[in-house]
Order: sequence, then structure tokens, then C-alpha cells
Amino acid sequence: MSDEPVIGVVGVGYVGLTTGACLSHLGHTVVCGDVDEEKINRLRNGEIPIVEHGLTEIVNEGITAGRLEFVVGATEVGERSDIVFLCVPTPEDRDGSADLSFIEAASAEIGPVLREGAIVVNKSTVPVGTTIVVGEVIQRADIKVVSNPEFLREGTAVNDFLHPDRVVVGADDRGAAENVAELYSSIETEIIITDAASAETIKYAANGFLAMKISFVNSVAAMCEAVGADVVDVVEGIGSDRRIGREFLQPGPGWGGSCFPKDSHSLVHLAETRGYGFSMMRSVIAVNDEQRERMVRKVQRAAGTNDLNGVTISVLGLTFKAGTDDLRDSPSLAIIGRLRELGATVRAYDPTTTGTLSQIQDSFLKGIEVQQSVDEAMREGDVLVILTEWPEFRSLDFERVKELLSGSAIVDTRNLLDSQSVRAAGLDYDGVGRKA
Ligand code: UDX
Repeated sequence: MSDEPVIGVVGVGYVGLTTGACLSHLGHTVVCGDVDEEKINRLRNGEIPIVEHGLTEIVNEGITAGRLEFVVGATEVGERSDIVFLCVPTPEDRDGSADLSFIEAASAEIGPVLREGAIVVNKSTVPVGTTIVVGEVIQRADIKVVSNPEFLREGTAVNDFLHPDRVVVGADDRGAAENVAELYSSIETEIIITDAASAETIKYAANGFLAMKISFVNSVAAMCEAVGADVVDVVEGIGSDRRIGREFLQPGPGWGGSCFPKDSHSLVHLAETRGYGFSMMRSVIAVNDEQRERMVRKVQRAAGTNDLNGVTISVLGLTFKAGTDDLRDSPSLAIIGRLRELGATVRAYDPTTTGTLSQIQDSFLKGIEVQQSVDEAMREGDVLVILTEWPEFRSLDFERVKELLSGSAIVDTRNLLDSQSVRAAGLDYDGVGRKA
């Protein structure tokens, strides 16, 4: 491997773009490729099509330094790179498995043009055994395939890349794994070098555990409601145990996004096709599905009727979490879909859906009356529902809420508000796991 390998990145979504930009920020020379020519042209002009804190700055830094380049397609990336990161989508297939068609297509495109002894790196979340799949597509004994899973959260991907808790690199060829690990040598962190199957399993186990932690606290919240406890104090009481930890213990409407739902189903599918019935993971998924239904029932109770025909619901928050504009598999949209099935009219506001909606946003938000402000979303609503933890929703003016709402009930699925203050203002309050 040359002293200063040229890095290739195939696929410039939030993982690929963050990976390419951060590796160029660390001093590497990076060429990124994507099939979307329009996206590539915008990136060449330093325009970032996704909401990621700090990403615009380091993309422009890389372009200005001449260390970050964007090309159309994957062929040129394969021709010019010593190490190629595959960061293409691995969407969920109908049977819950990960669809590897984009990984296979990218591998087939770069295989014939890769430099002698080049390394291909699976950065996308892929089932155990995918380094073998990529190797079989490329069919070249001189090409090594390595697993280097990402642990990037949307909205904080740049920070998570540059300040990771660990870097995991897995390959059946240790030299190839060490070459990839070397790329991260300027980052102060633990580097774990293992075999490919273990690295691929680490990714799924990490996401599965985090999803389990959230489903667990959502179940504890339901129990708190049943026994008259307050989940905020219960979370503090268990989270202060360093073996449990306070993070990922916030109850809510359930987990969503482009990762947890896909990865949890893929983990179950992977285990079951290999003969292990991962019942715990199935329960984690079932609790999450039920959590969304629990939120719907809270809204029905707040509306005073199960039949929501003629009822207007004011919703604050559409994205799957705060800090991102991603609507994919958002619990908010799933809950809104159920409310509309029950006959409700939904007026909604999210800080990322003001102004003209993009085509993608439009496709997700069909049938929802998207408003330009919190006030407009609340106007004439029978019930106000908070579904995403955007900071601005923590400081609602309750007198204004009373003025604008037709009803007097708030369902706070993210426990953002102080229940006493809401009630003191003469409004009804229902959180998740809060003491009545
Ligand atoms: C996740 C993993 O955190 C990341 O390591 C992995 O690489 C990709 O998947 P992301 O999907 O961006 O990242 O979102 P994350 O911040 O993990 O939140 C996932 C879901 O859990 C969101 O819907 C969020 O609202 C929810 N959540 C998170 C809770 O309900 N409670 C919590 O305490 C934390």
C-alpha cells in the first residue's frame, strides 16, 4: 500500500459524504462518486443536500485544500483509489433482510478497474458475510475486502466520526485491516481490529442493543403509568448506575429513522436464517410498534373520543428525531397516519418543513396540513401533540396555546414540558410515563 493511499468513497449520502469529508479533514486525499449527477454538481459547488452539523464547513475545507473531489459514478473512484469505501444504501427487503443490490452493483463496477492490491471497505451496514459477497463479485485474488462499520448518528455524524468511542475494523486478512485502521491513526480513540464476521456483528449488536434500551425504557414508562411512578425519576434512579448509563433512556413515541427499524429487522432475519430465533429482538420490535399505538390511544383519550372524525390534531414535530431533516420511518408520521385513519384532520409544524417542500418531503407528508409556524399548527386544534424533541417546543407559551387551541389538552410524547406548569395554566397534560 502506498504511503499516502488515495481514498475512494462510493455513495454520498449522510454516511458517505461524512466519511469522505472527515477523511479529507484528517489529511487524506479523497474522491467521492455517486450516480446522482445533480447531487455531485451541487457538492462540487460546496452545497450540502443534507442537514448535518459541521458538514458544510469540512466539505468546503476539503474542496479548497484540493483533498476532496466529487465525480459521477463509481468507475473513476475505483480507477483512482487505493482504498474504496462502499457507502451505498442497504435498504430493507420485504422479508426483513438487507437488500445488497447496490453493494453488488458498486462492487461489479469498480472490480475490473481497481488498482493492483486495492482494498474495498464495507462502510454501509451490511449482514454478516457481506465481505465474502463483495469478494465474490469482484473475483480478484489481489483485492482484499474489509468491514469498517459506521456508528454515526444523523445530525451529529461529523462529531461522531471525528470523536468516536471506537473504530472497528474487521477482515480475514490482518494486513488489509491494519491498512484501513491506519487511516484513523490521527484520531484519539480505541481501534478494534478483528475478523470480518465479528466486525459486521458488532454493528448489528450495537444498534440492536440501543433499540432494546429504548424499548425497555418505553416499557418502564408504561409501567410507571400503571403504578403511579414518574419515569423521569425512575430513569435518573437507574441511569445513575454506571452499568446502565443515562443515555438512550429517554421514553418517547418509539424509535424510528433510517437505521434502527432496518437494522433490527435485518438482525432478526440474519439470526433466524442461521438457525437462532432472536426472540428478544423480536420483542424489542414489537414493543416499539406497540409504543406508537400507545401514543394514538393517548390522543384519543385527550380528545375524549376514539372516533376522531371531525377532530383536529395539532402536531409539533415530523422528523424522526430533532437535529435532522430526515422523515424516513419517522414515528411521528406513523402516528399521524393512524390518527388520520381514525378520521382526524392533522395540522403539523416542523422546523425542517417550512417553505416549499422538496419532492421527498412532499411524498412523506401527503394529506398532512403542513403549517409554517407553531402558532399556525396550534390554531383551532382540539388536541396538541408533541412528537419530536425540537428545542423550540420546550418553551411553549401556555397562554398562547390556550388562545389558539379549541381544546385544552397536550400530549407530550417526548416529555419536553413541565407537567405542573401546563396544568397550572389550565391545560390538561399527558406525557409518557409521567406521574398523573
Ligand atoms: C442510530 C445509532 O445511534 C447510530 O450509532 C447508528 O450508526 C445509526 O443509527 P440514528 O438512527 O441517527 O443513529 O438516531 P439515534 O440518535 O440513535 O435515534 C434513533 C431513534 O431512537 C430516534 O427515533 C430517536 O428519537 C429515538 N431515541 C433515541 C429515543 O426514543 N430515546 C432515546 O433516548 C434516544
